Order: sequence, then structure tokens, then C-alpha cells
Amino acid sequence: MKKKMLELLKKNREDISKTTLNEILNNEEKEIAKAVKETGLQTIEYINREKLENSLKTKYIGNEILIYKEVDSTNSVAEFLAESGSDEGTVVISKLQSQGKGRHGRKWESPSGGIWLSIILKPDMAPSKAPLITLATGVAVAKTLISIGVDARIKWPNDILIHDKKVSGILTEASVKVNTIDYVIVGVGINNNLDIKMLPEELQKKITTLKNELQIKVAETELILKFLNEFEKVYNLFKEEKFEEILDDWRKMSETIGRFVEIKQTHGKSVKGYAVRISNDGSLILKEKDGNLKKVISGECLIKK
Ligand code: BTN
Repeated sequence: MKKKMLELLKKNREDISKTTLNEILNNEEKEIAKAVKETGLQTIEYINREKLENSLKTKYIGNEILIYKEVDSTNSVAEFLAESGSDEGTVVISKLQSQGKGRHGRKWESPSGGIWLSIILKPDMAPSKAPLITLATGVAVAKTLISIGVDARIKWPNDILIHDKKVSGILTEASVKVNTIDYVIVGVGINNNLDIKMLPEELQKKITTLKNELQIKVAETELILKFLNEFEKVYNLFKEEKFEEILDDWRKMSETIGRFVEIKQTHGKSVKGYAVRISNDGSLILKEKDGNLKKVISGECLIKK
């Protein structure tokens, strides 16, 4: 059983057919969760687990923390665990990811030195509210980074920038069942101590790291601690449906509102305009050249100088 699960965890999830996964989950749900905890993949090499567990001030985020040396993607592992019945608040961390996933189907470069983590969430909420989880996570990341002394700003919908360079990205993946959210995986990548020169050239000029900005190494354990504490606060607001409080915080740290932007959408379409505000459902309101207001639900945001 353990061997089989390890094989699955090591494999690229694309390789696992839905049928195989379902068969395994139906028959051995509980076993899988138990076996994951026992896997030799767990390591305390770069994170002080004791400190992490003892210093967390959360009630449920991080009650279960799985730390790996290498996985394909922490989102994929978290998805696997969520399917097998793991609880809300379970956190998956990996030192490196071989197939880190970015938005719009892109690869997310994840060498060691970064924070690559995913959280399993099970909010009792309509699927239409899922985009707000992404914004809430952006607020938690930005607050965490500001608390360690960098000028973090949020670019709609969920890039965290320092001086216009990306320091963190968020990938939210939701599983929906009959008009309710079954579970949501929130994946957060923070360029902490990684060496930019290890990344593809075209990326190097677009991103920054905390080490670059602060000229010191930020301890992973401390950073994760701060983030998880911050995350639970803002996620509780989401669960209490205090969306305005989240959006107010988002607006205060926004790099997008008040700027001319171009939103690249799927199928090669793009919309240009002045970013007027963010609406209650998390979409962006643009004022186009002709003065018309346009609501944009998703896309890649480019800020015009
Ligand atoms: C983006 O494109 O901006 C989103 C990047 C999200 C990366 C994180 S790293 C941890 C988690 N696991 C993944 O495979 N992706 C997310």
C-alpha cells in the first residue's frame, strides 16, 4: 500500500488516470492518509518542524503539516490528500517541486530556496465565492511580507510584487460538487532565498527574491509561521462572509487600481483601460478609452507605464 502510494505521489499526476485514482481512493481512503504521514519523504532538513508546530497560533490551519524534500507539485499532493479525506487546514510543503504549476497552465520554476506550499480548504460556500479565496490569500501573503520589511504590493488578481517585480504567486484550484465547493487547494509560491541565476533568462528580469530585497536570508520556518498565522485570520473573515474587510485590505495594498492596464484573456483577446476598482466578487472594473466601464473576471494583468 505504502509503496503504491509513494509511486503515485512521485508520479506526475497527469499520468494517473481518474479511474485509477478513484479506485484507490474508494478502497483505501483512510489508509492513504495514514501512509502519507509515515512516508520516508518527510524531512525536517530545512524547516524546523518543532518550532513550526509549537509556535503556530492557529486553530486549524497547519494542524497537519506534511514536509517533503521533493514532489511534482504541492498542489497535486494536496489535491490527492483532499480526495482521500484529509482535513481542512492540512498544509503540504516541499523544498523543491519538479513540476510546479503556475496560472494559465504555465510551469512554475521551483528550485530549492523558495517557499512552495499548499493548503487544503473546505469552505461551506458557493463556487462563485472561490475567487475571493485567491484575493484573501494575496492579502495574507502581502501582509506577511510587509511585516518583514519589504514594500509588497498586490497586482490583480494575485501576483505579489516588490518594486514591480514578482516575488510571489498564488494558484487556487477548486473541486466543485453540485453547487457547493467540495474543496479548494490554495498554492503559494514565495521567492525567498532562491538564486535567480538558476532560472530561465526571460524570467530573471521579471522576478525578485526576499534575499535580493533585504540582503539577508529569511528563515523559512519563520516565514511560513507568519504566513500561516496571517492566512487563518483572513480565511476566517472569508468564512464569516466578511468579504468587504478582505477587499478593503486588498485595495490598500493594490498596485493595480489607478493604473492603466491590459488584461490578456484566453483565446488571444485582451482588454485595455484604467483600473477603476475591484468589485465585491473580486472582478476588476476597467474604464475603457470610450469611457465605458468593463468588468473583467479573469486574465493576466499587465501594468502600463
Ligand atoms: C502563478 O502563476 O503566479 C501561480 C504560481 C503558484 C505556485 C505555487 S508553488 C506551490 C504550489 N504548488 C504548485 O504547483 N503551484 C503552487
